[in-house]
Amino acid sequence: MWTLALVCLLAGNVIAAPEGFPANGNGLWYTTQGEVWEHTWLPIGNGYLAAMLPGGTTFEYTQLNIESLWSGGPFENSSYNGGNKPLHERENMAKAMADIRQRVFSSENGTIGDVQALVSPITNYGSYAGAGYLLSDLQSTGPISDYSRYLNFETGTTSTLFTQNGISFNRTSFCSHPTQACTQHTTLSRASLAAKKTLPRLTYAFSPYLQEGLPTPNVTCAGSGSLRVRGHVGNPGILYEILATATATRTSGPGGGGGGALPVSCAVYTDPVTGLRNDTLVVSAGITEAWITWVGDTEYSLEHGTEEHGFSFKGLDPHNTLQSRIKSISASPWSFAPALAEHIKDFRATLHDRFSLDLGQKPDLSKTTAEIRSAYLLGKGDVYLEWLVFQMGRYLLAGSARGKLPANLQGKWANGIGNPWSADANINVQMNYWSSEMTGLDVTQSLWDYMEKDWAPRGAYTAKVLYNITRGWVTHNEIFGYTGMKEYEISASWANYPEANAWMMWHVWDHFDYTNDLAWLKAQGYPLLKGVASFHLDRLLPDQHFDDGSLVVNPCNSPEQKPVTFGCAHSQQLIWEMLNSVEKAHTLVGDRDQKFIQEVRAKRARMDKGIHVGSWSQLQEWKVDMDSPTDVHRHLSHLIGLYPGYSISFYDPALQGRDLTRRKVLEAAEVSLEHRGNGTGPDANSGWQKVWRAACWAQLRNSEKFYYILKFAVDQNFAPNLFSLYSPNSIFQIDANLGFPSAVLNAIVQAQDTPTLSTPLTISLLPAIPTEWATGSIKGVRLRGGMSLDLSWNNRAVKSAVLAMDRRARAREIIVLEGESGKVRRKLRAVPGMKRAICGVPCR
Ligand SMILES: *[C@@H]1O[C@H](CO)[C@@H](O)[C@H](O)[C@H]1NC(C)=O
Ligand SMILES: *[C@@H]1O[C@H](CO)[C@@H](O)[C@H](O)[C@H]1NC(C)=O
Ligand SMILES: *[C@@H]1O[C@H](CO)[C@@H](O)[C@H](O)[C@H]1NC(C)=O
Ligand SMILES: *[C@@H]1O[C@H](CO)[C@@H](O)[C@H](O)[C@H]1NC(C)=O
Ligand SMILES: *[C@@H]1O[C@H](CO)[C@@H](O)[C@H](O)[C@H]1NC(C)=O
Ligand SMILES: *[C@@H]1O[C@H](CO)[C@@H](O)[C@H](O)[C@H]1NC(C)=O
Ligand SMILES: *[C@@H]1O[C@H](CO)[C@@H](O)[C@H](O)[C@H]1NC(C)=O
Repeated sequence: MWTLALVCLLAGNVIAAPEGFPANGNGLWYTTQGEVWEHTWLPIGNGYLAAMLPGGTTFEYTQLNIESLWSGGPFENSSYNGGNKPLHERENMAKAMADIRQRVFSSENGTIGDVQALVSPITNYGSYAGAGYLLSDLQSTGPISDYSRYLNFETGTTSTLFTQNGISFNRTSFCSHPTQACTQHTTLSRASLAAKKTLPRLTYAFSPYLQEGLPTPNVTCAGSGSLRVRGHVGNPGILYEILATATATRTSGPGGGGGGALPVSCAVYTDPVTGLRNDTLVVSAGITEAWITWVGDTEYSLEHGTEEHGFSFKGLDPHNTLQSRIKSISASPWSFAPALAEHIKDFRATLHDRFSLDLGQKPDLSKTTAEIRSAYLLGKGDVYLEWLVFQMGRYLLAGSARGKLPANLQGKWANGIGNPWSADANINVQMNYWSSEMTGLDVTQSLWDYMEKDWAPRGAYTAKVLYNITRGWVTHNEIFGYTGMKEYEISASWANYPEANAWMMWHVWDHFDYTNDLAWLKAQGYPLLKGVASFHLDRLLPDQHFDDGSLVVNPCNSPEQKPVTFGCAHSQQLIWEMLNSVEKAHTLVGDRDQKFIQEVRAKRARMDKGIHVGSWSQLQEWKVDMDSPTDVHRHLSHLIGLYPGYSISFYDPALQGRDLTRRKVLEAAEVSLEHRGNGTGPDANSGWQKVWRAACWAQLRNSEKFYYILKFAVDQNFAPNLFSLYSPNSIFQIDANLGFPSAVLNAIVQAQDTPTLSTPLTISLLPAIPTEWATGSIKGVRLRGGMSLDLSWNNRAVKSAVLAMDRRARAREIIVLEGESGKVRRKLRAVPGMKRAICGVPCR
């Protein structure tokens, strides 16, 4: 402390992190207000609600989100059909499909131009939308000094501190998961309280106008101290409501006591032009604390996405639920401190109590996050910033996934009435969740519910009408059950992606594999797996192009990549791994359907496994060898079996074909990865491409390339608030944020899935640890089989590694590899309840 103070003194006006900022550096802080929403504002969220704050001084405009606030869909158009063809088109579609398949197989090079006969126009697709702004206005003027703001990853709160007219203010906001509410608290610093200062008059109002295109809602007083915002997104459009209650108290000084609640009034105002109400809450001057708590919801209901409910997604008017919710929260003048404590306890239990990472970072608390970010150099890196991006990823996932809907392309933070790519929840969802299981984030329930209740019901209809398949379900996209194949730029590359469901099933299996939650697998996981597997079993066809007797999909596209062909590596690898999962789950849940499992086994054996080595030693993207060595496409579709899958990384000749060896396959994957470039393809320079590449290089045990591209992502694609950006437009896309932790983890510990329950689990410790992260530790990493690992390292070598097996786990064989060379350290049989140091003591 003494040295630090001295250094500050000598350097003159060196600043330091604000009071209350975590000493371990786990947070973001700034000395200027946020200007651009996606670059400098700060996010809070509980999954149900989210908010973005610029960190204003006397005037703060908090941008609001409600997770199910979407435009489009059945609320906009009662004839909305999810991009599906009418039922009477079924036979025509079946014929069109047969014709497409025939044309693909019989074409000389196995490709055709499009699948135009299958697509539907994009109508009423809609977008995730912002819910307007809460305005909080402290009515005082004068120059501002000592300004700072921060986001605290230890507590899940954000604060703004500033001084005006000798009074130091402190505004703190957070969204609590247990109460499903958000709170903004305004008070004075301890010193100002001790000096018996008080707050000036404070008002709370609502504005839709800062969000272009949001229809004006009614804002009305709802009892003393309460405001009710009620409107629709669009006309017609979904109904939403926000209820807010403000409380004011006066305390006699630090520690409270001697004060009490003061009434907050509500001023009625009717706009003379629109005739709509715009009431305002008013807190009189002379108090020491005020806080406003809000809840919000829409009439969207995940329980009403079935055919029985006409796929309407229409639930109840949210008013009554919101009213009882807010009543249960904010009654007493002393309720703030317990509410904050409850939030912090829940937040820590979710993010920190079970898991932690140390990369040997040395936080520099004399520089703002913006300064640290802008000083970041690709050539040099900065372990502290890399560690912060990791923390940010988990913070954002916990803050957006724990509602009733999964984290979308912007988590739950979106500013406009329409947002980039609708901020939807399609293929990006997978990367969003890559790190959840391993870092023990128990935030995935909404993801399973979404698949079961939003995709599956209408997806069964799509399977029938578009594919003439009456088992299981398929989806090509999103929130109001938009399961059809959407027409976009007459290019199948955007639309033709019926493997989305197969990829999601990897996550379903993983959830069981990491948690051993058999009851969940039986009730929710396995039915999803079986449905999707059934669909793809019916979709696989004998290859009539090469006539090699194998089963392939046709037509297929590598995601967002031309041409339309058959046997795409991506599809085949996905389906093969999914069928392995189904077989494992079938055994575990004790499904007696023998016919089904025999079909799984028979078709899986005959399947083309999607792994071929081509003319330039590359891993082929398609069954027809037509890859271009100069194709630097953003997706690594055909490398999905390298990461996050295992069909490449653990290629097994006995199951996948004896014409290749694991070594050959890995070499081919490396050739393809190298040629795929550094994630700055002609179309985009986005973060998620680099993060995926980094995870793949780690999988190939190449710490240099891993670290280089990971740093390149930080350098190119992260804003001062550490939101990940899609360049050149600098738009927010959350997938790189949420994928980043999994890339980091993949350099520290890997434990890829296995094709059968009896295949030994290979655990790789420090497979690609960069020299810059030479010393560190990680605690509470969850591994497959319901294991948990505590690992520490020194000089890039394992110092200690302790593996604990869940009591519910199955016994399994384990092989432990260490280091970039991957040499075998240990083989053991892990049994339920076991806890063991797996690298011996001492390890080196
Ligand atoms: C409503 O949806 C139907 C079915 O998708 C479509 O044909 C129609 O054009 C839509 N109407 C409007 C006004 O968008
Ligand atoms: C569609 O499926 C039905 C029932 O399985 C079948 O009878 C019919 O021949 C199929 N249509 C085409 C064109 O394949
Ligand atoms: C396949 O052949 C067609 C017709 O000759 C041609 O237009 C197309 O470009 C070829 N596709 C590829 C990927 O070579
Ligand atoms: C600001 O207020 C919050 C409560 O809202 C409190 O937890 C925090 O310690 C305060 N910070 C400072 C610097 O007074
Ligand atoms: C309501 O009042 C606030 C505060 O005066 C203002 O900023 C906002 O634009 C008003 N909203 C409407 C709908 O008039
Ligand atoms: C807003 O108020 C107007 C006028 O009272 C009323 O017609 C309208 O239905 C209200 N809108 C909502 C969403 O409650
Ligand atoms: C990324 O790849 C492009 C070529 O595709 C190259 O021009 C550029 O220098 C590379 N950037 C870095 C930082 O490696």
